[in-house]
Amino acid sequence: MGSLSFGSSQTAIGLDIGTEHVRVAQVKSAGAGFVLTGYGRVDVPMGAVADGEIVDAAAVSSAIKELWRRSSVHGKDVCTGVSNQRVIVRLIDLPFMERGELQSAIQYQAQDYIPMTVEDSILDFQIIGDYMTPTDEHMMEVLLVAAHREMIGNTVSAVEGAGLKLKQVDVSSFAIVRALMGESTSILPDDEGQATAIIHIAAGLTNIAVVERGVPRFNRISSLAGATFTQAVANVLNVGFDEAESLKIMVGLPNVETGEGEVTPGVDADQTQVIHQSLEREVNKFIAEVRRSLDYYLTQTSQVRNIQRILLSGSGSQLRNFASYLEKGLQAQVILGDPLERIQVASSAQQAVNADRMGSVTAIGLAIGGLQS
Ligand SMILES: Nc1ncnc2c1ncn2[C@@H]1O[C@H](COP(=O)(O)OP(=O)(O)OP(=O)(O)O)[C@@H](O)[C@H]1O
Ligand SMILES: [Mg+2]
Repeated sequence: MGSLSFGSSQTAIGLDIGTEHVRVAQVKSAGAGFVLTGYGRVDVPMGAVADGEIVDAAAVSSAIKELWRRSSVHGKDVCTGVSNQRVIVRLIDLPFMERGELQSAIQYQAQDYIPMTVEDSILDFQIIGDYMTPTDEHMMEVLLVAAHREMIGNTVSAVEGAGLKLKQVDVSSFAIVRALMGESTSILPDDEGQATAIIHIAAGLTNIAVVERGVPRFNRISSLAGATFTQAVANVLNVGFDEAESLKIMVGLPNVETGEGEVTPGVDADQTQVIHQSLEREVNKFIAEVRRSLDYYLTQTSQVRNIQRILLSGSGSQLRNFASYLEKGLQAQVILGDPLERIQVASSAQQAVNADRMGSVTAIGLAIGGLQS
């Protein structure tokens, strides 16, 4: 869906390039479902990936090579994902036309919807459906994807520099939706007039998506993510990033109702309180940001009145008591998304993926997308 495809096969490899980690998932078809046959994760050097874009392709290539050495993945064709300011996803309404006609018309139509020039962009689209207006005009709804050519070029360099071949580039949020909800909404059926939001919180980025009847209709990224929380702790305690990172993970947020936290060995009560307060401030900003995005979405659509269900995923969502803060702040049911709910796991991948369950979502969704294309 909405991906730039260069071939198809029976086994597929998803490669998720992130700010702190690169991850790989290998998936094969098994009847109507999928089996995860290989999984791995390695660290990315600080600064090599920033704001969802590859800054140092050589450093990312080395990390990918290391990933292949350390994981039980076999093969060279990879499907990767992009998520940054230079990949745009828009749901647009156009006068109805046939697919072939749209293929050429989109080149002209797209410019009205994207902030970069069409010449600098790689375009893709998916027809969502068609409808009649009250004045009997035949219209169609199209999901438009535009990715900056140069940005994709950096991804190609990093992948090829690791001796691999780029088979497909997907939008990361589509991969996340696919891993958590499948192509249909069979796990979490949307009622009429209902939508599900997905919040995927990683290190440098948070992906916010809204899905209606299986179709991702909205996507926004925010730079408020796990690293923002860590940096806030570092600032308030005047400690380094790594120390703040482990304090954040150990202490986390207090109980949202009682305000009480876990007693953490080696962290005194005063320090605990300071950490709680700084994380609370950041989480409140995060909630406000998500609310703004969802409110924007709701004003753009006539059918859905509110979003009552949120699927939460990503490594950053493991912050202690985070889900209950979101539930209270957003007045919605928050469910932890599980990428292993819809896929069998072979013994070759079990240990590695269980150790990174919440972080594996994107890589798994990218791999499944590679099988389906
Ligand atoms: N138990 C935990 N509690 C709180 N935060 C956690 C926990 N485990 C991991 N994190 C946070 O998750 C983040 C890392 O997420 P992840 O590995 O998914 O990022 P990434 O994919 O490398 O980056 P991005 O997708 O943003 O480019 C870090 O900010 C880390 O602090
Ligand atoms: Mg990531």
